[in-house]
Amino acid sequence: MKKVALVGCGRISKRHIEAITDCDNLSLACVCDIDEKKGKSVSMDIDVPFVKNYNDIKGVDIISVLTPSGLHPKHAIEIAENTDAKYIVVEKPISLTLREAYELYDRVEKAGKVFLPVFQNRYNPLVNYIKKLIDSGKLGRVHQFISDVLWNRNDDYFDIDWHGTATLDGGVLYTQASHYVDMVHYFFGEVEEAHGIGSGFRGFEVYDSVSAVLKFQNGTHGSINCTVNAYGKNYCTEFTLIAEKGTIRLSGTNLNEIAYWNVEGMERPDMEFKIDHVYGNGHNTMYQYIQDEKWEMFPAKEDVLSGIRLMEKLSY
Ligand SMILES: NC(=O)c1ccc[n+]([C@@H]2O[C@H](COP(=O)([O-])OP(=O)(O)OC[C@H]3O[C@@H](n4cnc5c(N)ncnc54)[C@H](O)[C@@H]3O)[C@@H](O)[C@H]2O)c1
Repeated sequence: MKKVALVGCGRISKRHIEAITDCDNLSLACVCDIDEKKGKSVSMDIDVPFVKNYNDIKGVDIISVLTPSGLHPKHAIEIAENTDAKYIVVEKPISLTLREAYELYDRVEKAGKVFLPVFQNRYNPLVNYIKKLIDSGKLGRVHQFISDVLWNRNDDYFDIDWHGTATLDGGVLYTQASHYVDMVHYFFGEVEEAHGIGSGFRGFEVYDSVSAVLKFQNGTHGSINCTVNAYGKNYCTEFTLIAEKGTIRLSGTNLNEIAYWNVEGMERPDMEFKIDHVYGNGHNTMYQYIQDEKWEMFPAKEDVLSGIRLMEKLSY
């Protein structure tokens, strides 16, 4: 049985708790938060000890870092260097800068620990199916893609102290659309040319809307549009692929539905799935891989770093 501690008892901690609880051979052993009220409330709910300082976590195998994004490198490095946990899980985005991402890998490795980034969208069965289809060549040449993340985040959301800040949040690309930037990087590989244009319509330190065009070294090009300003509520999440031998459109809150399928010689697969929250089921799959020690299911270091390089290209 592997023991897991959570650092950060905010909104995403619930998803981690559910996913860990679903694994027979993982157990929650401790929670940590600098906000004592929040941390103690979660600790009482799930009946595990609470600590205020992550350096005091002892005797666990895995520590998951669920703190504000810009703090991930500092927290993960200190946890790797100061605790005896072997595995450090870090929520997305693992860092807001490429420099910090390099330092993060470097110091975690030097501490003899294993770094496990959360890329739960890569465990979405439909995303995986499309990846295999592209790689198989059955679609022929993939010409173009359109990826849209057109969401609403109201003013209450931005009342949370770190949201909308340059140093902790990074803006709509990092906080809302990072899984979708990662997805096109996962599908198409290294980027040849990319350019993002952003606006801060609501006056935050960061862009709340970005339109980006990208051309990959394999010849595929496309666009990503993301916003937190869709009127009143989330509007849509979608991914459209235009290939020589097929057109496919995924949709749904988490790309869990097939909105259009027209592929040469292939019936539409019966693969849609239901989700009861906005984060998808990928965290469950991720913790199952941790339980089963399938470390190869986590993206490799160079892959992750090149994805962050792409984020920087789109953001600045
Ligand atoms: N994978 C996903 O789909 C997904 C979804 C939502 C959020 N996230 C990521 O998870 C992270 C947390 O997001 P959230 O919405 O839960 O934020 P949140 O603000 O609700 O929670 C963050 C918590 O971290 C705590 N914290 C800050 N500094 C700390 C420290 N030094 N030690 C211990 N605790 C500390 C805060 O007190 C807070 O309770 C962000 O990076 C976010 O991007 C990922």
